[in-house]
Amino acid sequence: MPTTVRSFGKINLGLCIGARRKDGYHELRTIYQTVGLHDRVRVQVERGRGIRIRCEVAGVPQDDSNTCYQAAERLLAALGIKRRVTIEIEKRLPVQGGLGGASSNAVATMQALQHELKRELPLPERMRIAAEIGSDLPLFLIGGTVLGVSRGEEVYPLDDGPSFQCVIATPRIGISTPKAFADWDRTQRQRKLTARDASDRINWFSSAALLWLNGYLPRRLGLTGRSSSGVPVDFGGGRAENPLLELVRTGIANDFERVVFPQHPELRELKRTLQREGANYASLSGSGSAVYGLFGSRPAAVRAARKLAAEGTLAEATRTVTRREYWKHL
Ligand code: C5P
Repeated sequence: MPTTVRSFGKINLGLCIGARRKDGYHELRTIYQTVGLHDRVRVQVERGRGIRIRCEVAGVPQDDSNTCYQAAERLLAALGIKRRVTIEIEKRLPVQGGLGGASSNAVATMQALQHELKRELPLPERMRIAAEIGSDLPLFLIGGTVLGVSRGEEVYPLDDGPSFQCVIATPRIGISTPKAFADWDRTQRQRKLTARDASDRINWFSSAALLWLNGYLPRRLGLTGRSSSGVPVDFGGGRAENPLLELVRTGIANDFERVVFPQHPELRELKRTLQREGANYASLSGSGSAVYGLFGSRPAAVRAARKLAAEGTLAEATRTVTRREYWKHL
């Protein structure tokens, strides 16, 4: 019996690009959030050798450049096992869409393959393999709300708050992430911004994320107290407001919007539509082209998704997926 797993997408709640490093990657800070939109990955193991990829969607490679192929190959090697592996990908997440589809598929492959083989590679080893294949893979070994640092591959689980309604619009535009980074570098040079400026921005983003953790966590735990200056601090006690909303109120944004929106004004327009339709926060995800909005209620999210669909944009009302749900429904 083959093993089928859900391969959830992610959105980025803010993404700050720092300086280009000596290894060619950019220093990065972001908060990843897994969402309900997902592909399905089916893994079958038989006697023999070789890895086969099956996917009917154009643009998904079927050779060893496929992230699922690489994940399966490395997992088998690390476990010292030789088998014939067939990986079928049922795609709903857009290709080059900023929702981490290829990365998520690769991690889903590892999880399904482990299940098929009835063998498990320790998490740190799976993390290492994931990070070698791509910067956006390790987050999918954690799920829920995840802080990403370094080139995005160094991941830290954040508090697993309640789920949030969201609308994800997936225009049929593929955006190359390396090109988006190169465009970012060009704009930084044109504005004569230095590595020092880049590091200041990175630090600001980290502070905003920390401020959120400091404010939200005590509230969630129902704590009130006094600041070091003796001023009473009321964290609200009792029920906390939605943590994601508090997080986006810190003013975090996605730097890729500054290079992607000028080249694709229709994506900026999509963000505006989501805001007009009542999104509490709207943003490009990763380097795009997906644009999402966070909503206060399911009916509001469904209304906004319908409005976008009526305008001819693929859009779906879904929810953010907490870590607990992620592992329960994988
Ligand atoms: O790690 P991944 O293979 O997903 O990265 C794809 C490309 O995106 C890299 O080759 C690099 O050009 C760019 N990148 C970057 N800085 C990052 C992540 C990716 O410049 N932090």
